[in-house]
Amino acid sequence: MKKTISEVAPGWLAGKTVVVRADFNVPLMGARVTDARRIRESVPTIELLTHAGARVVLLSHLGRPERETKAEFSLAPVATELAGLLGEPVTFVSSPNGPPAAEAVRRLAPHGVALLENTRFHAGDETNDPELAAFWAGLGDLFVNDAFGVAHRAHASTSGLAEAMSARGGEAVAGLLMARELRFLEEALHAPERPFMAILGGAKISSKIGVISALLTRVDRLLIGGAMANTFFKAMGLHTGSSLVEDDSIDLAKKLLREGRERLLLPVDCIVAHQIAARVPTRAVTRDQVGDDDMIGDIGPKTRALFAEEIGKAKSIVWNGPMGVFEIDGFEEGTVAIAHAVAAACDRGALGVIGGGDSGAAVDRAGVADRVTHVSTGGGASIKLLAGGRLPGRDSLTDRG
Ligand code: 3PG
Repeated sequence: MKKTISEVAPGWLAGKTVVVRADFNVPLMGARVTDARRIRESVPTIELLTHAGARVVLLSHLGRPERETKAEFSLAPVATELAGLLGEPVTFVSSPNGPPAAEAVRRLAPHGVALLENTRFHAGDETNDPELAAFWAGLGDLFVNDAFGVAHRAHASTSGLAEAMSARGGEAVAGLLMARELRFLEEALHAPERPFMAILGGAKISSKIGVISALLTRVDRLLIGGAMANTFFKAMGLHTGSSLVEDDSIDLAKKLLREGRERLLLPVDCIVAHQIAARVPTRAVTRDQVGDDDMIGDIGPKTRALFAEEIGKAKSIVWNGPMGVFEIDGFEEGTVAIAHAVAAACDRGALGVIGGGDSGAAVDRAGVADRVTHVSTGGGASIKLLAGGRLPGRDSLTDRG
């Protein structure tokens, strides 16, 4: 087990400088944050530290600026959003490292919060440069990793920083968000109340192959939707028209169908159109009636009912990936129906854990986010964990004594 910030004595924190890695990789429209979930979810850790009298130095990446400074990837809008959420000023430092960062940290008063610029503006973050990690570790007395969303990456600002902090005799502990994410995802995986169900969607089997295989050995039921179902349809000899299909994954799909047998449940009908765009005419067809010009954009009404019935029987549910192109009007109903079914199961006492990214956006869109047990802030990280993979961001933390 890894040590968490709750196990650090508040008295020890007073007057200390704490370096916190958060995942503030949020969507922006110009200088406006359009979904602040990740920032909101980091607030309890920041407040725990400031209330104890620590100075808080925040690090995060935003997007993939390709190791260069690019204005559109600046964290400045995040500093504004965070200051609003905290009700306290946040000093924004326009460089992630070097003398300006060191000087800003030196000037920070106890209870104060500073956010350094995008860690990925320095090439050394993604290459896990030990010098850069040592610079960040040298800014503080303790490292708190609260960035579950990026825990699957071994970068200088994640595992590199934890190792550098340990090397100089300091500790690296999990923040409250990191600890909560790990608790729910690991609980769902290791000792799930049964029936245990997983729901997987999204476009590609190839990107989720590890998770499909790992989950098939654990779950009682695996529901598959989204464009990845199309590849299974083709593997079953069904016609998929002009739908998105991964032809080089068809053999893999056949193997998974053999392994999964009755545990693997695929859509029985779909919503099709001649193109996937807003306000185009759509039809619901059974899965063996897809025409040459049809593109599958969502699960159909019979599947919505079938999946909802199955979800109603489950005691533990993990869901990752949408059932269709839910961001386009006309193809959202399947994903929204699944969100409602999972929320209803949670109302009856089931554990419902939603993977990050699109499924998180889907529960927001369905207005049920506060009814599900846990909405993860990590897309790639939760997939890696569900697939049984290692998370360097977690593994590098100090072991509980
Ligand atoms: C995410 O959004 O999944 C995390 O912030 C990680 O981002 P990355 O895939 O660019 O490393």
